[in-house]
Amino acid sequence: MKLIEAKDYHEMSMLAAEVILDQIKEKNDSVLGLATGGTVLGTYQQLILDHQQNKTAYQHIKTFNLDEYAGLSRQDENSYHAYMKKHFFDEVNIPFSQTFLPNGEALDMKAECENYDQKMEELGGIDLQLLGIGQNGHIGFNEPGSSFESKTHLVALEQSTREANARYFDTIEDVPTHAVTMGIATIMKSKKVLLLASGLQKSSILYDLFHSDVTSSIPATILRDHPNTIIIADQEALSKLHQDERKMFAK
Ligand code: GLP
Repeated sequence: MKLIEAKDYHEMSMLAAEVILDQIKEKNDSVLGLATGGTVLGTYQQLILDHQQNKTAYQHIKTFNLDEYAGLSRQDENSYHAYMKKHFFDEVNIPFSQTFLPNGEALDMKAECENYDQKMEELGGIDLQLLGIGQNGHIGFNEPGSSFESKTHLVALEQSTREANARYFDTIEDVPTHAVTMGIATIMKSKKVLLLASGLQKSSILYDLFHSDVTSSIPATILRDHPNTIIIADQEALSKLHQDERKMFAK
């Protein structure tokens, strides 16, 4: 894991967008793994700005999102389908048919999950996976205790995750209890991983990410075993790490 320290949220977003743009420059038909949440929003804004200014082309890019709430329709404003459309897909020239998210309303969820993993493989696998991190160390919606062998699957959300995400809903009761997520094995298959973290509320989990052994009780620690992981975090998120440690992890 290589750490890149950013001053603040804005700088983190700019640095993250640079990593993604380098990937697109290197391979204009890259398969990108995308994430939702507050952390990655600024990165999408930077990519949109770049698209407007530099005309970076997305017509050959394919995208797979990490996760989707179970039981929400694509049109629901809290669905990750709606998030991606609003905050990214509608603003760049990516053909809608090349953007994939799990269908949270699938009647046969097992088949839906298998097809999702299969589609990823057919398109050559994910070149770069963008990730946020939950305060409990979840990646995608792989909550503590998730198997490292898991592929895309249906999960029950922890109450703490529902509470953390309740800010987007009218009431906590409206937050779905389940979600479909790429599994840890799915995420680990991507050739490169880019994890972002910002703010004091992520400082404890970032400390654990760098200090704990690899353990399924902190799912993100598996990234230590990935050969090509970049973590871009801002000073608040890194505030529990000593300066010397930050330098050491930056190498
Ligand atoms: C959500 C998403 C994750 C995201 C995480 C952090 O539950 N499923 O993919 O990384 O929580 O979200 P935020 O960036 O809003 O803190």
